[in-house]
Amino acid sequence: MAKMEVKTSLLDNMIGVGDMVLLEPLNEESFIDNLKKRFDHNEIYTYIGSVVISVNPYRSLPIYSPEKVEDYRNRNFYELSPHIFALSDEAYRSLRDQDKDQCILITGESGAGKTEASKLVMSYVAAVCGKGAEVNQVKEQLLQSNPVLEAFGNAKTVRNDNSSRFGKYMDIEFDFKGDPLGGVISNYLLEKSRVVKQPRGERNFHIFYQLLSGASEDLLYKLKLERDFSRYNYLSLDSAKVNGVDDAANFRTVRNAMQIVGFMDHEAQSVLEVIAAVLKLGNIEFKPESRVNGLDESKIKDKNELKEICELTGIDQSVLERAFSFRTVEAKQEKVSTTLNVAQAYYARDALAKNLYSRLFSWLVNRINESIKAQTKVRKKVMGVLDIYGFEIFEDNSFEQFIINYCNEKLQQIFIELTLKEEQEEYIREDIEWTHIDYFNNAVICDLIENNTNGILAMLDEECLRPGTVTDDTFLEKLNQVCATHQHFESRMSKCSRFLNDTSLPHSCFRIQHYAGKVMYQVEGFVDKNNDLLYRDLSQAMWKASHSLIKALFPEGNPAKINLKRPPTAGSQFKASVATLMKNLQTKNPNYIRCIKPNDKKAAHIFNDALVCHQIRYLGLLENVRVRRAGYAFRQAYEPCLERYKMLCKQTWPHWKGPARAGVEVLFNELEFPVEEYSFGRSKIFIRNPRTLFKLEDLRKRRLEDLATLIQKIFRGWKCRTHFLLMKKSQIVIAAWYRRYSQQKKYQQIKSSTIVIQSFIRGWKARKILRQLKHEKRCQEAVTTIAAFWHGTQVRREYRKFFRANAGKKIYEFTLQRIVQKYFLEMKNKMPSLSPIDKNWPARPYLFLDSTHKELKRIFHLWRCKKYRDQFTDQRKLIYEEKLEASELFKDKKALYPSSVGQPFQGAYLEINKDPKYKKLKDAIEEKIIIAEVVNKVNRANGKCASRIFLLTNNNLLLADQKSGHIKSEVPLGDVTKVSMSSQNDGFFAVHLKEGSGAAGKGDFLFSSDHLIEMATKLYRTTLSQTKQKLNIEISDEFLVQFRQDKVCVKFIQGNQKNGSIPTCKRKNNRLLEVAVP
Ligand SMILES: Nc1ncnc2c1ncn2[C@@H]1O[C@H](COP(=O)(O)OP(=O)(O)OP(=O)(O)O)[C@@H](O)[C@H]1O
Ligand SMILES: [Mg+2]
Repeated sequence: MAKMEVKTSLLDNMIGVGDMVLLEPLNEESFIDNLKKRFDHNEIYTYIGSVVISVNPYRSLPIYSPEKVEDYRNRNFYELSPHIFALSDEAYRSLRDQDKDQCILITGESGAGKTEASKLVMSYVAAVCGKGAEVNQVKEQLLQSNPVLEAFGNAKTVRNDNSSRFGKYMDIEFDFKGDPLGGVISNYLLEKSRVVKQPRGERNFHIFYQLLSGASEDLLYKLKLERDFSRYNYLSLDSAKVNGVDDAANFRTVRNAMQIVGFMDHEAQSVLEVIAAVLKLGNIEFKPESRVNGLDESKIKDKNELKEICELTGIDQSVLERAFSFRTVEAKQEKVSTTLNVAQAYYARDALAKNLYSRLFSWLVNRINESIKAQTKVRKKVMGVLDIYGFEIFEDNSFEQFIINYCNEKLQQIFIELTLKEEQEEYIREDIEWTHIDYFNNAVICDLIENNTNGILAMLDEECLRPGTVTDDTFLEKLNQVCATHQHFESRMSKCSRFLNDTSLPHSCFRIQHYAGKVMYQVEGFVDKNNDLLYRDLSQAMWKASHSLIKALFPEGNPAKINLKRPPTAGSQFKASVATLMKNLQTKNPNYIRCIKPNDKKAAHIFNDALVCHQIRYLGLLENVRVRRAGYAFRQAYEPCLERYKMLCKQTWPHWKGPARAGVEVLFNELEFPVEEYSFGRSKIFIRNPRTLFKLEDLRKRRLEDLATLIQKIFRGWKCRTHFLLMKKSQIVIAAWYRRYSQQKKYQQIKSSTIVIQSFIRGWKARKILRQLKHEKRCQEAVTTIAAFWHGTQVRREYRKFFRANAGKKIYEFTLQRIVQKYFLEMKNKMPSLSPIDKNWPARPYLFLDSTHKELKRIFHLWRCKKYRDQFTDQRKLIYEEKLEASELFKDKKALYPSSVGQPFQGAYLEINKDPKYKKLKDAIEEKIIIAEVVNKVNRANGKCASRIFLLTNNNLLLADQKSGHIKSEVPLGDVTKVSMSSQNDGFFAVHLKEGSGAAGKGDFLFSSDHLIEMATKLYRTTLSQTKQKLNIEISDEFLVQFRQDKVCVKFIQGNQKNGSIPTCKRKNNRLLEVAVP
C-alpha cells in the first residue's frame, strides 16, 4: 500500500519555535531560551528561515537513521521538524530539478560540529541520489576520502578531540540525473606548526599516533619505528591517548579507506615512510661547537637517527648532514654559504618537518582528487560543501588565528551579502515593497585585512620582502602607522592611540574588532610564518632523495629549475585562495548551517548560556532573524497556506475551486485581520507579525478539534454503514454461493444416479441383444457345421473306398484272418491224444495268439475230460464220485491221502456172504453192507490194539469180533458226531459219539486201518445221505476223545517207534494217549 501522504508542517508539535523568525518577542534572551528548550528536548536543529542552526549534542542521537532519510526525502523544507536532512534535501533537489549549483556553508567555532554536519550532508545526498555499481563506487570513494583526510589533517585540541586543522571545501559533481560523478577537494592552510609543537593538552595529527598504535611489528620494523610515543620528541605525551578513540582501529580504517579511494599499496607505503621520516626528524638533536673564527657552529649529536632517515628516504647522509649545518644564499651569480648555529639548525629541522608534512598533506589531497575526479567531460552540476575552521579566539593568538579569522570574516561577508541579496530579490520577485534593514556589514573589517595597499596582509608582505632587518616588531610598527585610524584596529602604540592606557593590550600585540568579537594577536612569529622559509639546501637535499614521493614534494630543489624569485608568502597565498573560494561560492546558491557549541566540556546535556550567547552574537544570528523579519516575519506560498488554513473559512472548506491566491484572500478577509498585518505577494502571502501567525495557528488548532469530532462522527457512521453493507453483501454472496452449491450437489447427485440407471438399462438391453445375436450366430454355426459334417460324411462315405488309407486296415484284417485260419488248420493236425493225462500241447506259433492258444488248450482239455467221463458206467461213476469226495476231504490235509488215490475203493474186503464163519453175522444184518473190513480197535484203557470187524451199513456202524463174528457194538449213524484223525501218514482215527446215546457208554472209538481214507469218505457220504447232515471230520495231531467219563487227549508223535514203521499206541495216563507214527 502506498504510504499515506500526511500533510504536516513545521508548525506541528513544535517545541519552542522551529523557526526563529517566529520568535516573539525577539531578543537575545528569548533566542537562547528557545535554543535551550529545543536542545533539552533533543531538538538540536532550529531554522532561521532557510538557515539551519545546529547545536552540538555531543552524543549520538537516533535522528540519522535510514528511516529518517526516507522521511525527509522529497519533502518540503518546512514540512517536517527542522533537520540537517531537510536542508540537504532542499539543496539536492534544487540542484537536480532546477539546475542550480549549490554550496553548503558550514560555520561555527571549533568543536561546534561542522565536520560532522558536512559528513551528514554527504551521507544524506549519497543515500538519496542514484544507485548502481558505478555510482556506488563513486559515492564510496567520496565518503571514504573523509577518514583519510581526517587522519592526516585532524588532531585533538583542547576544544575538540577531532579538530580539523585545515580548511576543506569539496565540490561534489553530479550529472543531469543527479547521480554523482566525482568530486574535487580544496584544502586551506593546514596548521603545520602542530607537527613540531603542540600546545598543552593537545596532540599532534592523528596519523602519528595511529601509525605507532596500529601498525604491525613488521611494518614498524620496515619504517624503523618503535611502538613507543615517548621515543619521539614531536609527539606530545601528556594527551597521547584520547578517551573513546581507538587509534589502532582507526589506523586500519584509514588504510582500508586509502585502498577504497584508490591508493596503490606502494603509494600508501611511501606516505607512511614520509610520516616516519617526519617523526624521526624530531629526534635529531644538535650541539654547539665553537669554530676558530669565533662563530658558533652546530653539530648533530647522534647520527644514528639521521642515518635511519637517510635509509628511509634514500638521501645521501652527508648531503642531509650538510644541509643541517649550512645555509647557502644565492643572489644573482653569487653563492654564499654560512654555517648554522644550533638555534638555526633546530629552525631548519622544524621547517623541514613542517614542510614535509604539509606538502605530503597537499599531495594526499591531490592524489584523492585524482581518484575521485569525474571521468566525463559532460556538463556537471555542483554541490560544494565548505567545512572551514571556525572563528578562533585563544589566549595567545598568532598568525594562524589571524588567517583563520580573516577567512571567517570573508564568510560572514558572503553570508550577509547573499542573505540580504536573496531577501531583497524575493521582495522584488514577489512585488512587495522593500524596507531598508539596518545591519552590521563586516566589509570594513575585511578591508582592514585584505586591502591591497594598506591592509594588514599587504603590510606583512611588504615587511617580509623589505631588505634590511625585518622583525615582528618592525611589522607592528608599520601597522601602527598605517592602520592607526581604522575603527576596528586597536594597538597601544599607534599614532594618537585611543589605547595608550589600555593595559589589557600588551605592546607586542594588536587587536582587531572582528564581527565576532575582539581578538588580540601576538605579532611574534608573523613574519616568519608568513615567509614560511625553508632553506634551499634542505629542499635541494630532499630533491636528491631516491624516494620518489619525497622527491616529488620538493620540486624547487631541482637545481635545473632554480628560481631566485621569492615564493609567494603564506598570507598572500591564503588571500588568493580565499578570494577564489569566495568567487566560487558567489556563483552558487548558498545553504547555511550555523553550528553552535553548547559547552566547553565536550559534554552532552550541558547548555552554557553565556557560551551560546557569545556565539549567537558573533555569528550575527539575531541580525539574521531581523533581516529575515524586516517587513514580514513569515511567508508562505499560497497553496500550502490555503491547504493549512482553509478550514477556517466556509468558502474555502473543504475545497476551494479557484486559484490559491484568491482562496487565501477570501480566507484572510473572512478572518478580519488588520490589513497592515499581511500582504499578498505574487506567489506567497507575507505575514508581518508572528503574532498573527500564531493566532492563525490557534484558530486552526481549535477548528481542527471540531473538525476531528465531525470527521470522527462521519467516519464512525460511515464505518458502521460500510460494515453493515459489507455484511449484507457478504450475506447475499454467501447465500448465493450456498444455494448454488446445494443445487449443484443435488443436480450432480441426480445426474450421477441417472447415469447409473441409464447404464444399467443400456447394459441389460445390450446383453439381451448380445445373447440373441450370439444364439443366432451359434445356430448358424451349428447348421453350417452339421451341414458340413453331413456333407463330409456323405462324401467320405462315397469316396472312402477310393481312399488308400483304408487299404492298410483291410490288408491287416485279411492277413489276420488268414493267420488265424492257418493257425486253426495247423492246430487241427497237431492235436494231442484224448487222454486227460496227456500233458502235450503244440507250441504257440504267434505271440498275439498266446491267450487264444491257452484258452484253446483249456477248452480242449475240458472237452477231452468230458469225452473221457462220458465213457464211464454208473458204477465207475460212483467210484469216481467217492474218489472225488475223498480228494475234496483229504487232499493236502492228510499225508496218507496220496497213497490212497491209486487204490480202488472196494468196500467189502471181508466177504461175509461167502465166509460161513460169519453166517450168523450176516443174518443179523439185513441192510446193505457198505464197508466190511477188519480194523484195529485201540483199547481205551491201555492203548493196545485188538482186531474187530468194522461194518458200515446204510444206518449203522457195527463192530464185531473177528473170530466169532459176534456183534460187539452197534452205533446208529445219527449218533456219530465227528471223526478225528492226524495229518500224518497213519491210519488212526477216532469216532466221536453223541453224548448220552446208547452206544456211547464206553466212550468214543479209536481205530487203526490201512483204508482209513476210504472208510472216512464212505462214512461221510453215508451219514450225509442218511441224516442229511455233514459229518464233522477233524484233521489234527492232537484231539480229545471221551473215554467213559474221561476226556483224553490223543497226541501223535512222529518217529521214535520201537517197532519199525508200524504205528503204536500208548496210554500215558488217564488224560493222554500217545500215538507214535512213522
Ligand atoms: N550532530 C552530532 N551528533 C553527535 N555528535 C556530534 C554532532 N556534531 C558534532 N558532534 C560531536 O562533536 C565533536 C566535534 O565535532 P566536529 O569535529 O564536527 O567539530 P568541528 O566544528 O568540525 O570542529 P573543528 O573546527 O575543530 O574541526 C565530534 O567529534 C562529535 O563527537
Ligand atoms: Mg572539523
